[in-house]
Amino acid sequence: MDLTVDINAYCNLRCEFCYQDLDGSILPEDEILGIIDENPDSEYIEIGGGEPFLDKRLVQLIKEIRKRKKKIHIATNGTRFPDELLNLEDMIRNDVEIQISLHASNQELYKRITKKNLFDRVIDNIKKIKPMYSTLISSAIYQVNYHDIPNLINLASELELPIRINLVFPVGNGRNVELLTPKQINQLTSYLLLERIKKGNMVESPLMHTNNCTALQNVYGIEKKGLCPVDCGVKGYISPKGKSYNCEFLQNELLTIEGAK
Ligand SMILES: C[S@@+](CC[C@H](N)C(=O)[O-])C[C@H]1O[C@@H](n2cnc3c(N)ncnc32)[C@H](O)[C@@H]1O
Ligand code: SF4
Repeated sequence: MDLTVDINAYCNLRCEFCYQDLDGSILPEDEILGIIDENPDSEYIEIGGGEPFLDKRLVQLIKEIRKRKKKIHIATNGTRFPDELLNLEDMIRNDVEIQISLHASNQELYKRITKKNLFDRVIDNIKKIKPMYSTLISSAIYQVNYHDIPNLINLASELELPIRINLVFPVGNGRNVELLTPKQINQLTSYLLLERIKKGNMVESPLMHTNNCTALQNVYGIEKKGLCPVDCGVKGYISPKGKSYNCEFLQNELLTIEGAK
């Protein structure tokens, strides 16, 4: 079971669909490591937040998790890149993947979504991170950025990075934004399949696979058919307050993970 741990609940952006309650909570380091130790079968630890790159404990946490031979996936908004990450040994760095969440291909739309004017800085940081870490772009799609998807895919191509197209879920502030309609989901699925043929594995999305995602089924009516290689097959999620759930997008479905409250 992969484990997603949201280590803090503070962030410098305010994405209008963000599921996280950004109340400044911090999940203590001993609790994070305790949960990881109590789930020895988790090969991947996904670190999120709030914003993990604003968290001074991040480098130490990465070292501790790598000591436990786990692979790490970090989700970040990419607005800040801690220089200490450039100095990590190869043995640690090679099993750390960095996902830059970018939901717009231009400054104006970026500001509309995140409330901050930091688009250019994210692009500069992507260029810094890319030579050092396995890197991908992830975009959460709703009505506001639906028409920007082709530009996002082109931007990822220009940056020579894979892109994952996800859908916004109505959790937290995601409840206050307009989601895609079933017709748009169908059009998007066909479009993504074509883009994947054109661009190979550089375009990824749970919409393109038979999947086992309860959140996609509950919210978008997308039928469950098997394990999703992209996202949630079986996973666990720990919130910044130490609560455990099946998934960050299924926070009404409590799961008991030992060590979590
Ligand atoms: C909560 S953020 C935390 C890490 C970091 N701040 C970031 O944005 O990548 C983790 C991921 O969840 C995505 N996300 C946030 N709210 C969402 C929602 N309501 N539906 C779908 N994805 C969401 C973000 O776009 C990001 O890729
Ligand atoms: S999605 Fe990530 S970057 Fe955006 S407000 Fe939430 S925590 Fe911050």
